[in-house]
Amino acid sequence: MKTQELIKIEDDYFINTFTRQPIVLDHGEGVKVTDIDRNEYLDMFAGIAVNALGHNHPKLVKAIQEQAEKLIHISSIYYNEPALIYAKKLVDLTDFDRIFYANSGAEANEGAIKLAVKYTGKSEVISTVDSFHGRTIMTLAATGHEEYHEPFKAVMPEGFINVEYNNIDAIKEAITENTAAIIVEPIQGEGGVNVPDMDYLKQIEELCHENDIVFIVDEVQTGFGRCGTLFAYEQFGVKPDIMTMAKGIGGGVPMGGILATEKVAGAFVPGDHGTTFGGGPLVCAAANAVLDAFEEEKILDNVKEVGEYFISELKKLDKEIIADVRGKGLMVGLELTKPGAEYVDKLREAGFLINCTSGNVLRFVPPLIITKEDIDVFVKALNEIL
Ligand SMILES: Cc1ncc(COP(=O)(O)O)c(C=O)c1O
Repeated sequence: MKTQELIKIEDDYFINTFTRQPIVLDHGEGVKVTDIDRNEYLDMFAGIAVNALGHNHPKLVKAIQEQAEKLIHISSIYYNEPALIYAKKLVDLTDFDRIFYANSGAEANEGAIKLAVKYTGKSEVISTVDSFHGRTIMTLAATGHEEYHEPFKAVMPEGFINVEYNNIDAIKEAITENTAAIIVEPIQGEGGVNVPDMDYLKQIEELCHENDIVFIVDEVQTGFGRCGTLFAYEQFGVKPDIMTMAKGIGGGVPMGGILATEKVAGAFVPGDHGTTFGGGPLVCAAANAVLDAFEEEKILDNVKEVGEYFISELKKLDKEIIADVRGKGLMVGLELTKPGAEYVDKLREAGFLINCTSGNVLRFVPPLIITKEDIDVFVKALNEIL
């Protein structure tokens, strides 16, 4: 079928939730994807910061193929080896003690909030303006965008307080004796790639300790090497009580998870939480392959080196339209002085996939295997288009 015919199927049959780019992607290799009309694109978006190893990574594909031939799904009431191996591997790499497997970022955040509420017996959650924590009702309430809440006001839960990001006084003012948790992205992604002051998370951690509040970092977007360390919180010198993750964890298969300290994790007992698909053998085999590739291919070193290079090259662009360049690792935002949608289209037409968030921030979250040569090609095109 032709592109326009296929797109019409969406118009006729899908529930209308996405504004999509008018291309039908067919296959990918490394940092490139190709549509059904054989147009090739440099993927600077990686499925919204998901395809950490790029496309068609041989080890990831092999792990999925081999596991698919053995077992794709069993119930969570049985053990499976990939999930057990992965849990130990990830816990050993982080400051947490226990894992819960989920299927998405929103589901991970739902579980994290439930855990914090059960642990503290309290009812209020503080989150930040312009944050993004998911589309389920509770994670929507935590998400700091009033306009997303509006159509669902009737069923929005109480107890969620959104305060200004990177403003510790705003958090202090919002804390009450009922505060169960503070949930924060180490760097806001959807909110416009907003990097807080280096002491912001530390100050939150201190407030949490002083007031017996659970500190949750949402690393759904920043995690799995995106910012140059396995998790972004490491760069801020903190040890949160709970961390949520998804996106890059499985290199593209739908997976999420919660990591928690022994103390907080102990609040859940069988029956408090669960999932049908979470921690299945297929996705965990993929996640194991991702972590192995991180180590074998020194992915974090690449993110640090190419990320710094990328930001420095962007800072050299001398354009009045550029208001700011910011980010960490390969999570980079270029703020424009005007809406960015037209540049997303122009770049796509020139063979580059990016997105625009917050109206005027061009967001670049490429596969973590991207090279300086790819960056050179991209920055040259961006320069011409801007
Ligand atoms: C920081 C953050 N948290 C949570 C989510 C929700 O994740 P998902 O779409 O997998 O539910 C996202 C998605 O963009 C995110 O960026």
